[in-house]
Amino acid sequence: RKTAPLPEDIRAMKGRAPIVSLTAYTTPMARMMDAACDFVLVGDSLGMVVHGMTSTLGVTMEMMILHGQAVARGLSRAMLVIDMPFGSYEESPEQAFRNAARIMRETGAAAVKLEGGQHMAETIAFLVARGVPVMAHIGLTPQSMNTLGGYKVQGRGEAAERLMADARAVAGAGAFSVVLEKLPSVLADRITAGIDIPTIGIGAGAGCDGQILVVDDMLGLFTAFRPKFVKRYAELGDAGEAAIAAYAEEVRARAFPAPEHGFAEEAPN
Ligand code: KIV
Ligand code: NA
Repeated sequence: RKTAPLPEDIRAMKGRAPIVSLTAYTTPMARMMDAACDFVLVGDSLGMVVHGMTSTLGVTMEMMILHGQAVARGLSRAMLVIDMPFGSYEESPEQAFRNAARIMRETGAAAVKLEGGQHMAETIAFLVARGVPVMAHIGLTPQSMNTLGGYKVQGRGEAAERLMADARAVAGAGAFSVVLEKLPSVLADRITAGIDIPTIGIGAGAGCDGQILVVDDMLGLFTAFRPKFVKRYAELGDAGEAAIAAYAEEVRARAFPAPEHGFAEEAPN
């Protein structure tokens, strides 16, 4: 693939090929995954992962746009999706459009993602009708952690039917895909079979149409806590700590810098 897919291309992958995605927050991270991923999400998880906040509730439009611009500079083959932060879309379809248009205008993102099922369907339809492709996000929606009672598994027991209805509502409203976060794998399979847009799973089993992970989690860079659904493909946090310890030791022993890291008095010709 030479150019980035469009939301319609991602939608068309359902039933054909697994959709690969990760989050990114900076240009070098985006470059690292551009060739491997179908789309890259600037998630509001950046509040916790990059800025050390304890939830995503404090993330602002300005933060999403600044990181969105950084990630956009690192992508040429993967599609860019940007999260709408808490408080930027829930009030009305008009508010959502104003902020989604600003995100797309100032970052070049191909789509936005927002949290919510049936209660956001009207807003999703309003955005899609006006040129804003929407990725929905249901199940565990971290912006609602205060009303959900924390970061629990969603959709167990009777709540399963409500999540199925949420999935149908966002698909019916015109979302081009939907993130399913932290719900039983069998429910995710049922939802995946029951709607005609791709499901992107995180903590939702292997049956989804695609997968997403927070990049700092899978690289072992974010270690404050470790959700069960994360697989660490590297331990970059440990590697970084060891490298910094080696540097500190060499500076204290006057072993760094070595002569080859310095400059001669005379410029070579
Ligand atoms: O903010 C985020 O990183 C997300 C993904 C986990 C889907 O919403
Ligand atoms: Na998010």
